[in-house]
Amino acid sequence: MGQIDTNREQWGSRLGFILAAMGSAVGLGNIWRFSYVTGENGGAAFLLIYFFFIIFIGIPIVMAEFTIGKRAQSDVVGSFEELAPGKPWVLAGFMGVASAFIILSFYGVIAGWTVRYFIHYLTGGITVENDAQYVDVFLNFITNPLQPLLWQFLFMALTIGIVYVGVKKGIEKTNKILMPLLAILVIILAGYSLTLGGASDALSFLFTPDWSKLSDPNVYLAALGQAFFSLSLGMGALITYGSYLSKKEKLPGAAASVAALDTVFALIAGLMIFPAVFAFGIQPDEGPGLVFIALPSIFANMAYGTLFGGVFFFLLSAAALSSAVSLLEVAVAYFIRKFNWTRQKTTIIIGGIIFLIGVPSSLSQGNWSHITFFGAGILDSMDFIASNIFLPLGGLLIALFVGWGWKKSDALEASDFGDTLLGNAWIFILRYFAPIAIFIVFLASIGVF
Ligand code: PHE
Ligand code: NA
Repeated sequence: MGQIDTNREQWGSRLGFILAAMGSAVGLGNIWRFSYVTGENGGAAFLLIYFFFIIFIGIPIVMAEFTIGKRAQSDVVGSFEELAPGKPWVLAGFMGVASAFIILSFYGVIAGWTVRYFIHYLTGGITVENDAQYVDVFLNFITNPLQPLLWQFLFMALTIGIVYVGVKKGIEKTNKILMPLLAILVIILAGYSLTLGGASDALSFLFTPDWSKLSDPNVYLAALGQAFFSLSLGMGALITYGSYLSKKEKLPGAAASVAALDTVFALIAGLMIFPAVFAFGIQPDEGPGLVFIALPSIFANMAYGTLFGGVFFFLLSAAALSSAVSLLEVAVAYFIRKFNWTRQKTTIIIGGIIFLIGVPSSLSQGNWSHITFFGAGILDSMDFIASNIFLPLGGLLIALFVGWGWKKSDALEASDFGDTLLGNAWIFILRYFAPIAIFIVFLASIGVF
């Protein structure tokens, strides 16, 4: 401990790092999770709070993670041990590793569904007699005990394959081509979806707030969780990626562009999903199946729909893969150092364990649906605990660590802000605003007020 390992890999270029961070951020969170959580929380008011949290809590903590990683040049646990030896901050590191296990376990399940839908379209599309049957197709699939597990396994095997090969060769390349393609496709699909007849309902759902929702604390917790999940924030993915950055990179621009891209992606995904939801009479609060039900309706009605469907689910699977890679990398980077195993051995063991942890989440859609915690099934509970509790809590600790655990001048220098107005605003947010806001959201959601 203590000395910097000069043999750690580094990104091929500044662009490589930003692309990898973007690849981590953009994933199922922007399309699958964003649309169903927005749908469940009533649309516009949720969206407003979400944007607010992204700007005033998300981006500053993204900066904090990049800064920690770049300075410490270690994994999420090692970074805290390096920068604050013997201090309790390292707890945030362990929580990060735990979050990686939990999130990837169910992320692999949903990503498996995505791959399955890709294969559907590759092999001719989904045939139904009317749009309502897309629900049945979806439910038939996810309630089957074996099928979804096979796809989850396949997806996890791909994830393991990329992490096995290593940071530079594996992660950097995958993102360069496929992400821009996904962006273009989502824009085209949003354009088409807006012509289906549900546009005005969708736009008012997304942009005309029902202000009464602002008094529901759960909407705030959901928005906070979604902001963290979507930005890959609060569990050290961005610390780990920042640690592969050479010392000469400038961070604030990178943080802002990652957050902007991630948020624009989600917004356009919303413009793709919700017009179809309203046009085809789907319930916006349908839940985690929302995109798997709404999107097939779009493709069925579109010229070359099968082709578009295939390309879309392929690219979404690829986006999920680069996010999954970043999740696995958090755990793998830690265990490589911890046990002194090879990258290859670590990746297979940890990836395998995470697949197994995901099995109950998959089964919870069918045979195991009776197992619930506070009324939520296994998959939903995993998601809730990780996204709404662990990530914001991790983010809170990270904010406090950089805000209070570092000398201010150190933090400003390491962040590349220097002693500027923006830099001082950043420190203020990390010291006071972000921790207090997160704390209040937690208290409110357990009914303290
Ligand atoms: N941000 C990713 C997404 O939106 C998910 C993720 C969360 C990845 C946490 C890494 C860490 O899909
Ligand atoms: Na995201």
